[in-house]
Amino acid sequence: MTGPAQQLQTQTPTPNSRPEPQITVLDAGGQYCHLIARKVRDLGVYAEVRPSDTPASELRGRRGIIISGGPASVYEAGSPTIDPNILTAGPAVLGICYGLQLIAHALGGAVRKGDKGEYGLARLKPVRAHTLLEGVDGGESQVWMSHRDRVEAAPEGFDVLASTETCAIAAMAHRERPVAAVQFHPEVVHTKHGREILTNFVFGMAGCKEDWDPKNRIPFIEADIRERAAGRNIFFFVSGGVDSTVAYKLCLQALGPERVYGIYVDTGLMREGETEYVRGLFAALGAKAFRVEAAAASFMERLAGLTEPEAKRMAIGEEFVAVQDRVLRTEHFLDANWVLGQGTIYPDTIESGGTKNADLIKTHHNRVAGIQQLIADGRLVEPLSSFYKDEVREIGRELGIADEFLNRHPFPGPGLAIRCLCSASENRITDQGGCWLVPVRTVGVQGDSRTYRGVLAFEQLISDDKATELVNQSVEVNRVIGRLGAHVPMSLMRVTKGLITTDRLERLRKADAAVRALTHESGFDKEVWQLPVVLMPLGTGDLPDSVVLRPIHSVDGMTAQVVIMPQELRSKVTKRLLEIDGICGVFYDLTHKPPGTIEWE
Ligand code: XMP
Repeated sequence: MTGPAQQLQTQTPTPNSRPEPQITVLDAGGQYCHLIARKVRDLGVYAEVRPSDTPASELRGRRGIIISGGPASVYEAGSPTIDPNILTAGPAVLGICYGLQLIAHALGGAVRKGDKGEYGLARLKPVRAHTLLEGVDGGESQVWMSHRDRVEAAPEGFDVLASTETCAIAAMAHRERPVAAVQFHPEVVHTKHGREILTNFVFGMAGCKEDWDPKNRIPFIEADIRERAAGRNIFFFVSGGVDSTVAYKLCLQALGPERVYGIYVDTGLMREGETEYVRGLFAALGAKAFRVEAAAASFMERLAGLTEPEAKRMAIGEEFVAVQDRVLRTEHFLDANWVLGQGTIYPDTIESGGTKNADLIKTHHNRVAGIQQLIADGRLVEPLSSFYKDEVREIGRELGIADEFLNRHPFPGPGLAIRCLCSASENRITDQGGCWLVPVRTVGVQGDSRTYRGVLAFEQLISDDKATELVNQSVEVNRVIGRLGAHVPMSLMRVTKGLITTDRLERLRKADAAVRALTHESGFDKEVWQLPVVLMPLGTGDLPDSVVLRPIHSVDGMTAQVVIMPQELRSKVTKRLLEIDGICGVFYDLTHKPPGTIEWE
């Protein structure tokens, strides 16, 4: 007898019972090739990835073949090729980007180097109806382009289906056979009708049937991890952030706790209780081989005397490299039986960035020579590299990781160091009639450029509109703050001498912990995307620092709006902060991003 539970179990495809792939994605070296396969699976059709030159004879039985993008030029020696027989063998074929150029090249079309590339968004103008573009705006539709070469003449038998302003052949299709190609990337979210186009290919042109439950992705990811690890062990540098933690948990499940090693570098720049929190988190995940590398002293040494934000970031990045290098060498992680695990998510892999303006800690991670070598040797496991942040959270939830953790506010890699503002000397603040110019410089962003300017301080909160107007009119400041409370009037405050010291970090850590506790208790933390707490060297001889609250709302960190805390909570927080040793005043940042940035440095 089989009950419903057993029936359910046998219905769930396991890695061993993957269906025969209906779609094969041929990998021409594009970063997007795994993303394409995943997008097809999201449509409910099982797809696999194979090398671009897989012979047509090995692809019998497929309903569709997708040729991915890639960085090469078709006319360069050694660039990825395809078996031309796939273009006539029967299955439907879709070329994407380099895939389009390969098809054109193979069938006698003309591919030329463009004088200027086309990167980013473009408007697609359909010029001829075809199954592939069904449902795509009759007018114009946004597509995402990333190419230099272009097809100038379609091969014999092909019609042009659409173009953009700078690309005459943005989509083409054969008149009789089910072979089509697009120059843009239908697999990325920026292409508005990308999902429709892939649906049209998979079901309309290739005639696939649904055979895959996209919700069943975890066993699939685990099977990929096992394949990539190929009997070797995995080690991670974990940060306590969502991505590396979810990636770690997936590896734990795929390989078992004996084969997954995690190292957390304690820089001494973390929030109160963070190291213990991460320790507890990994214990709860079932990690056995997890340890903390205590490195606070060497980070403090590197930061001594520095005041400029970029110099601080650089010092932290370099120390990270040094610590990682030491760990890699002394603990033999470079030996052949180890591979490196990373929590890289899909937006991190987009070369042209678009996401975070160069995340320095990460840049430095990648510069570690040992890690470069591992990457070059293909000894890298990145289980989340085709997923977006919201999907990573969902996977985390499916793995049983607590929401409380998955919904934590983002926290920057350089930690409290970039929230602890420094000044090498004492300076006066100047009365501007109704407000004060504070010569502590902070980072801002206007247009596409970075600014590094002073702060305008009001004795009370002013409206965010007024604050924006003031910054836009000024070349001296890029930020406006309002005072919530202080031990002395503004006229008695000055910029104090303050560097990165254990005392100041401890002061900031206490302030941050107090704000976190009170905003959590009131539920305000759920109303904001992030709430940096900043220490600024502004006060008196006895009370040398002030705290600035920076609660913001954002979607992706690229832009941000100020969020005003309810009056009652503001008073409570202010009172509590003024009790901390050495704190003179409490301020509120009233600057949106742009013109400010979320972090002060
Ligand atoms: P900004 O200050 O540029 O911050 O408006 C946008 C988002 O990025 C985070 N951030 C960083 N994260 N390393 C990180 O890992 C960094 O160097 C870094 N700098 C800023 C910031 O916390 C916000 O969420």
